Amino acid sequence: MSETGLFSRVHFGGDYNPEQWDSSVWREDARVMRDASVDMATVGVFSWAAVERVEGVFDFAWLDEALALLHEASVRVDLATGTASPPNWACAAYPDILPVDASGVPYRPGSRQHFSPSSESYRRLAAAFVRKLVERYRDHPAVALWHVNNEYACHVPYDYSDAAARRFRQWLRARYGDLDVVNALWNTAFWSQRYASFDEIIPPRRTPYSHNPGLLLDFRRFTSDVTLELFIMERDIIRGAGATQPVTTNFMDAYPALDYWRWAREVDIVSNDNYSDPRDPDAARHAAFGRDLMRSLKPARPWILMEQAANTVSWRPNNARKSPGEMSAWSEQAVARGAGAILFFQWRQSVAGSEKFHSAMLPHAGPDTATFREISAYGARCAARTPVATGPAEVALLIDWENWWALNQPDHPAALDYERILRDWYEATHRAHVQLDFAHPSHDLSAYQLVIAPALYLLDERASANIARFVANGGVLATTSFTDVVDQHDRFRPGGFARGLGVVFGAAPIDFWGVADADAAPILQQGECIGRARGLREELRLDGAVVTAAFDDGAPAIVEHGFGDGSSIHVAAQLDRSAIAVVLDRALALAGVRPVLPALPEQVEAIRTASGVTLINQSAAAVEVAVADERITIEPYRWREFVERFPSADDQPRAAPLDARTTR
Ligand code: GAL
Repeated sequence: MSETGLFSRVHFGGDYNPEQWDSSVWREDARVMRDASVDMATVGVFSWAAVERVEGVFDFAWLDEALALLHEASVRVDLATGTASPPNWACAAYPDILPVDASGVPYRPGSRQHFSPSSESYRRLAAAFVRKLVERYRDHPAVALWHVNNEYACHVPYDYSDAAARRFRQWLRARYGDLDVVNALWNTAFWSQRYASFDEIIPPRRTPYSHNPGLLLDFRRFTSDVTLELFIMERDIIRGAGATQPVTTNFMDAYPALDYWRWAREVDIVSNDNYSDPRDPDAARHAAFGRDLMRSLKPARPWILMEQAANTVSWRPNNARKSPGEMSAWSEQAVARGAGAILFFQWRQSVAGSEKFHSAMLPHAGPDTATFREISAYGARCAARTPVATGPAEVALLIDWENWWALNQPDHPAALDYERILRDWYEATHRAHVQLDFAHPSHDLSAYQLVIAPALYLLDERASANIARFVANGGVLATTSFTDVVDQHDRFRPGGFARGLGVVFGAAPIDFWGVADADAAPILQQGECIGRARGLREELRLDGAVVTAAFDDGAPAIVEHGFGDGSSIHVAAQLDRSAIAVVLDRALALAGVRPVLPALPEQVEAIRTASGVTLINQSAAAVEVAVADERITIEPYRWREFVERFPSADDQPRAAPLDARTTR
């Protein structure tokens, strides 16, 4: 894989759909792109039907011309394979292309993303199209990157078609081999669900009542895997045809249906789409979550912000504008987190079609607009800089898609929203100006001082041993209720709960129940209410842990325990924002982790980079900050970079743990 000069600067640009325009507009596009310092365009995301007019009949003339013009204008092309929206001729001739919903109703063409990942016809036609495209453009001097499909699984995350049923069975055979194993692991003895043949197994289609949890979990795994097969198929066609440019596909932050840890291994470059809602007062924190997740998926390599909106989107019921400067401040937080390209959907606003009211870099009203002026100014900034490496983090927040799939199933003591819980903890650390990485429970955690693992319900033995080792070696672990409850098959382990981590917690849950927001129990620490329990409480049986906070009924709410050279804080509930802040504060003190810079206002975002610190004012009012004895004003939605080396957190003293250590 050659990177064709990628990341020689921070690239700037967006989706470009020349097929929506007369070619006379293309020259103007190339000229105005130069004004905006655009040097990268994603071409062809929805161009399959414009190129393959009917099966086997290709019109590449317009694409040849468009790519030549872009090359002339020094715009690098991220060439999309276009397979996210199969043409009408394909769906008419091969209706098995269409995905099917849980009630057995096929999705119809007329929008986009109407393909079943398991359909043989879809795979055959997509493969043939990609082959033609790559053979034509693999050596094209403008092509710097291949963009496979688009936002896999976005509108149709789950396909319940007959083709999916067949592939699901193959997937199960490959994973478990023997049907007796499947019956045993899924406990099909319950409700007479025993399978006498693999052919009886179907996707979790509409049923009178709850599905088998083992089947549900495996269907989620299968869906991520079968969708990934499509990416790998196209990537391997691209490589097999001799193309040497890197290959990507655009992710969507923490998207529930796809296990991006597994996906990240297969892409050359991680890329991401982010559409935080400007109306949300925490929008910049939401965006930061996605950016930290993306850089964590493939550490130490630039990633691409593939799509964001120049201003409004068109798909919310009510689409707020970005404030002046907000687009730039959100872009800057991506650059400080290692983004090597800042791209948008889309270059020129469409004149018709579903997204005609979606903002674009070049609005329908033309360049004499605030949106275009801000775009051009930020483009000039990107042109003048190279990608930044993000500095090391001492805190890891664990995210595990398999846990997500298991946790979000029905029939639990309470419905917990894993993404919401992760975001609450992320946002608390962001508010505290502490830098964090995302990690998987089985990753090497030895570089971290603190690992936060909320609601890690499904935990296999390897991962729980890994986490226990991290604590034994001196790390601090913070966990919440419903952690280490089931194994990788969503089954209780013999002998109770927290069979792996109970020894670390010095306590283990013996019962779980739901708490409604209306009667959420206060959590009391030395008589003070520090916040409230949310969602799901557990009753703890103590085995060495010290109780540091109790519920109003006197039961242990927060326990601390020393294990080996480290310690753990376990909370017997999910928490509201104020309780999370208190627990986090204690965990940071125990771990000796301190903020990127002290005493910053909440609306200032702080990112440690390899060369210093970036501070971004993510608010509409100017703020004053103190940096190394100097008071500095940062204007609304502006930022300051400090290249000095600030003291690292290594020399920060740790708070004393509360109890005697449990020896290993
Ligand atoms: C993305 C998609 C783009 C465009 C954009 C609008 O999901 O990849 O093609 O539709 O949303 O916000």
